[in-house]
Amino acid sequence: MLQFSESPLRGIPGTGPAAVGLMFNGALAGLLDARPDCTDFLSIIPERFWQDFGRNNAPRFAPLPDETALLDRLAERHRLVAHGVGLSIASGSTFDLDHVRQLAEWHRRYDFAWISEHLSAVRVLTEETPDHHAGLALPLAWDHDLLDLVSDRVNRTQDILGTRLLLENGVVHTPVPGSDMSEQEFVNALVRRTGCGVLLDLHNLLVNAINLGFDAGRWIDALDLESVVEMHVAGGNRLFGVYLDSHSGACPQTVWDLLARTAPRCPNLAGVTFEYHESYHPTLGEDGVLDQLARMRAALLPEVPAEVRHVDR
Ligand SMILES: [Fe+2]
Repeated sequence: MLQFSESPLRGIPGTGPAAVGLMFNGALAGLLDARPDCTDFLSIIPERFWQDFGRNNAPRFAPLPDETALLDRLAERHRLVAHGVGLSIASGSTFDLDHVRQLAEWHRRYDFAWISEHLSAVRVLTEETPDHHAGLALPLAWDHDLLDLVSDRVNRTQDILGTRLLLENGVVHTPVPGSDMSEQEFVNALVRRTGCGVLLDLHNLLVNAINLGFDAGRWIDALDLESVVEMHVAGGNRLFGVYLDSHSGACPQTVWDLLARTAPRCPNLAGVTFEYHESYHPTLGEDGVLDQLARMRAALLPEVPAEVRHVDR
């Protein structure tokens, strides 16, 4: 197992115990030109910047010229964090080491402050559908076989990347039968076995809590909070009675409450990232993005002891 002694905060000018970041989307270009200092880092989805021609092709990957030029410009002004979407580390039928090697090559190129992926399965390898991408995370049973499978893959991934991998909790829309343990027990065991970190997505958690009927705060209480390196915050909306992780704009108050309650209990928290889908930019607006960043910074400020708090008279 790799040992991770270096702080992922290296080089990030944060204003408090954790840095504040934005998940990059194309609609942010104007704001980032005008106010590059509004965010401490940018999280980027690396798969959006290269072409994957498929496993049986050589060369398999090629940088997309316009997108890569944009990324180079972003990297001149912002510390970058990689947030992968294509690894599918929990797929029983497939594991794509060439994808990991491609990610490692880009890590060498852009020196990501940290690298995260999803604790999920989205790719399925069958004779009928080779390397089929399901388009959304498939439900997982938290059992011992999956723990063995994912632990081995996390170790191999971290060996290739040369750095710690963070894994993000996902969204499920129905209860999943067949688990041997809770999701938090699974994640805690995975952290113990591999030294990986956790990306705690508070909105994903809220979506599950609303749709499956549990208490998000109590869920967090069962997680090893020393493993949390990054958090995601986002907004969602209801559709036909189901609450969706649609990244549709401002965070609901419950997410702010969860952030304020949880962040001070995560001693290794390096950054909090606001995610929204660019199709909602016209309703959120640049002022709306700045407002979300300001609320994140306020939530991350250390609490001022009551005895030294200034009181206006
Ligand atoms: Fe997320």
